[in-house]
Amino acid sequence: MKILIVGGGGREHAIAASVAKSPRAEKIYCAPGNAGIAQIAECVPIGVMEFDALATFATEKGIDLVIVGMDDPLVGGLVDVLEAAGLRVFGPRKNAAILEGSKAFSKDLMKKYGIPTAAYENFDSAQAALAYLEGASMPIVLKADGLALGKGVLICNTLEEAKAGVKSIMEDKQFGDAGNRLVIEEFMTGREVSVLSFVDGKTIKTMTSAQDHKRAGDGDTGLNTGGMGTFSPSPFYTKEVDDFCKEHIYQATVNAMAMEGRPFRGIIFFGLMLTDKGPRVLEYNARFGDPEAQVVLPRMKNDILDVMEACIDGRLDEVELAFEENAAVCVVLASGGYPVSYQKGFPISGLERFGDGEQDGRFCFHAGTGYVDGQVVTAGGRVLGITATGKDLKEARARAYEAAQWVSFEGKYMRHDIGKAIDEI
Ligand code: AMP
Ligand code: GLY
Repeated sequence: MKILIVGGGGREHAIAASVAKSPRAEKIYCAPGNAGIAQIAECVPIGVMEFDALATFATEKGIDLVIVGMDDPLVGGLVDVLEAAGLRVFGPRKNAAILEGSKAFSKDLMKKYGIPTAAYENFDSAQAALAYLEGASMPIVLKADGLALGKGVLICNTLEEAKAGVKSIMEDKQFGDAGNRLVIEEFMTGREVSVLSFVDGKTIKTMTSAQDHKRAGDGDTGLNTGGMGTFSPSPFYTKEVDDFCKEHIYQATVNAMAMEGRPFRGIIFFGLMLTDKGPRVLEYNARFGDPEAQVVLPRMKNDILDVMEACIDGRLDEVELAFEENAAVCVVLASGGYPVSYQKGFPISGLERFGDGEQDGRFCFHAGTGYVDGQVVTAGGRVLGITATGKDLKEARARAYEAAQWVSFEGKYMRHDIGKAIDEI
């Protein structure tokens, strides 16, 4: 099979590495890819929002399967454009990717179908939102409706902060058009868990659990980022939690989308909070998490192409997902100054320790890297994701931090406590 992967971050590197393990993969292309993906795939310089160029390229190359990894093209309707060109595509169509693309839509869906989530109201005008806040209890959560690079959520402790948040999202358009609508939501507390799943429109199969560390600094301090590291499985995702989610959340979401005439085929990522009243949905994403994919996919035993094709053909019920009885930890190496401002273009050394990307269960997934004069250099805020597997989380963590020392570049920054909560239990 010839496969085209759309995207160019650590998640797409993890997807490409998983695809490369399949005996059915003859040739892998990635648009636009990065310096790490280039070790296992041919990278083509087409941007993820260049829908027509992607369709033309895939048609000309006789691509058998296109995998869309990123949220922006999914929400923008890339799958529909590729399908109209006669291509086979793994990922939700535009009318289903709205599950991630509009938080107001997903909240209304959960309310309508009784899927447990935080209480909320949607607003189209700043005036109405400000009036509502006067009678609301604090803290409170503001969410820009649309995609905002994972940064469109503000947790406000005081009425003043909340009012300022409404103004910056809805009037100053801090997140652009994503802030045309606003969700105001009850503040919840509890452990967060990410559960990714394959969906074929009617059947859902969940993967092993994971947990992200979103804040920039050790001890969950500092600004929110795209994710500074992950571990899998989450020790907090117990059988009891799984049973609850199976009964009230997973299949219910898939059925709700089908009932709405928006059958979902692809990945649903459930962002869950384990509150003292039980699990609640924080958010849905319509794709693999980044860096959740970097700890979940290395543990998957299935041939990913078989599973993706089963999703496209509506026969996921025939598939049994299987994961290694081990654990994985991913430590993100970022550019100093991320997520605010940082320099790019610094040479990265030590990458050869990882061979073609993996060495003895240690993976170097590239996120923001590129080439200058044949030398691999930093090209983004999150530069590399160093993943290691181990017999348990403690061993995986020690191995990941050891391998994180193998590479260096100017300004290299990482958190030192990825997966640390696991040592406390
Ligand atoms: P989201 O993009 O919706 O996952 O939100 C980003 C982060 O904000 C989540 O991972 C949580 O840490 C936090 N968050 C979102 N919604 C709530 C909520 N209702 N209560 C408390 N924290 C929340
Ligand atoms: N790591 C969180 C996300 O991919 O949305």
